[in-house]
Amino acid sequence: MVTRREFVAGVALGTIAGPAVTSASAASNIDTHQSMRAAKLPIIVSAGNGFPYIEAGYRQLVEGADTLDATLSVVRGPEDDPGDDSVGLGGLPNEEGVVELDASCMHGPSRRAAAVGGVRNIRNVSRLAREVMLHTGHVMLVGEGAERFAVARGFKREDLLTEDSRKVWLLWKESHADWWGPGLADPSWKDRLRQRLHTSDASREYQRLQALAQDLGIAPDLQQAAIRKIVFPPTGTIHCSALSAKGEMSGCTTTSGLAWKLPGRCGDSPIIGAGCYTDQDVGSAGATGSGEENIKVAGAHSIIENMRKGMSPFDAGMETLKRIVRNYNGDMDRLKYVDMTYYILRKDGAYAGVSLWTGYEPGKPHSIAVCDGTVRLEKTVSLYEGVSQEWPPLVVPSTSTL
Ligand code: GLY
Repeated sequence: MVTRREFVAGVALGTIAGPAVTSASAASNIDTHQSMRAAKLPIIVSAGNGFPYIEAGYRQLVEGADTLDATLSVVRGPEDDPGDDSVGLGGLPNEEGVVELDASCMHGPSRRAAAVGGVRNIRNVSRLAREVMLHTGHVMLVGEGAERFAVARGFKREDLLTEDSRKVWLLWKESHADWWGPGLADPSWKDRLRQRLHTSDASREYQRLQALAQDLGIAPDLQQAAIRKIVFPPTGTIHCSALSAKGEMSGCTTTSGLAWKLPGRCGDSPIIGAGCYTDQDVGSAGATGSGEENIKVAGAHSIIENMRKGMSPFDAGMETLKRIVRNYNGDMDRLKYVDMTYYILRKDGAYAGVSLWTGYEPGKPHSIAVCDGTVRLEKTVSLYEGVSQEWPPLVVPSTSTL
C-alpha cells in the first residue's frame, strides 16, 4: 500500500497561550504522521473500535453500495457487540442504570442529515437516524418519541443493559460523590479527585473500590478497567466516514454517551456539526471523546470549514483541538480531563486522525481505522503527549501494600 505524507513540516500550532508540551509533542509527531492519503478510492475511516468491521464496509463500497450504508454497516458492529460498552447493546447506562443512545448521520450526495438523542431500548440508533432522514421531514428526534418512531419503523424493543455493564454501574452507585457538579467549565470547579488521590490515601481508595468490585462479582481481570470507569466516566463512541470511487461521501456517529450521565443528557454525537458533519463539496469528519467540549467548538463542522478554506485534514483537526484548549485558556489542570479525537476524510482521499492526548489510558493510544484496499489501524497524532485522565493508583498496589 502506498500512502504519502502530505505535509512534512511547518505545522502552525496557533497563537493561544498553551503549555510548552504542546509544541514539543506535536513537533515530535511531524516526522511520523500527518495527513495521509488513500492509495486509491474508495476509502473508509472510523474510530479504532470499528477496525474489525471496516473491511466489510470497504467491500460494500467497492461493490457500489451507498456511502451512508457502508458507514452504517461498520458502526453496526460495535452497536451489536455487547462487549463494546460505549455503543449500542451493552453501553454503560445513565445514573439510573438505563442505557440511552445518541446517533447522527449525514448523506453527502443528497445533502441530508438526521439524528436521534436519548433513545432507550433500541440498539441500532445509527440506523434509526437514517430512518428519521428517510421517512420524516425532521432532522432530530429524541427520547420517547424517537423510541416510538423506531418501533413504528420495525425496530425491536430490547433491554440494552448487559450484566457486565450493570455491575460496573452498581460499582459507580456504591462509590461515587459530587456527580451533579460543578462541571469542568464552572469557575468554582475544584479538582477534588486529584486532591484526594494525591494523598497517601490513594492506594487505600483503590483498594476500597477493588473490594466493592469483588463483592459485586466483577471478574478480577476486569476490576481495574471497571474502577477506571468509575473514576473517569468514559464517553466511548464510534464515528465512520466513507468516500466512494465516484466521489460521494457520508458519515455517521453513534454512542451510549457519557457513562452515568443524567437521564436526558445528549453529548456531541447526535449534534449535526459536532459529533458528525459531511459536506459533499469538502469532506466528512466526526468525533469521539468529551461531548460537552466538542459541542462548544462545533468540532466536526469547524474541521470541514477549515478544510473548505484550504487546510489539510491534519491542520483542520489540530486547529479545532486548539479551540478546546482555548476554551480553558490552556489550563492543564482541566484539560487533562478532556479526551477528544477527530476522524477526518477529505473529498480527495486525504485523511487524518488527531487527538488531544495520545490516549485515554496508558498503553492504549487513540487510533483511526482505515481501509482503502489495505486495512490498517493507525495511531492518531496528538496535540499533547500522555493520557487524559491519568490516575496514579490505577497501577495496582503491590501485594505488600494490600
Ligand atoms: N462523545 C460522546 C459523548 O460525549 O456522548
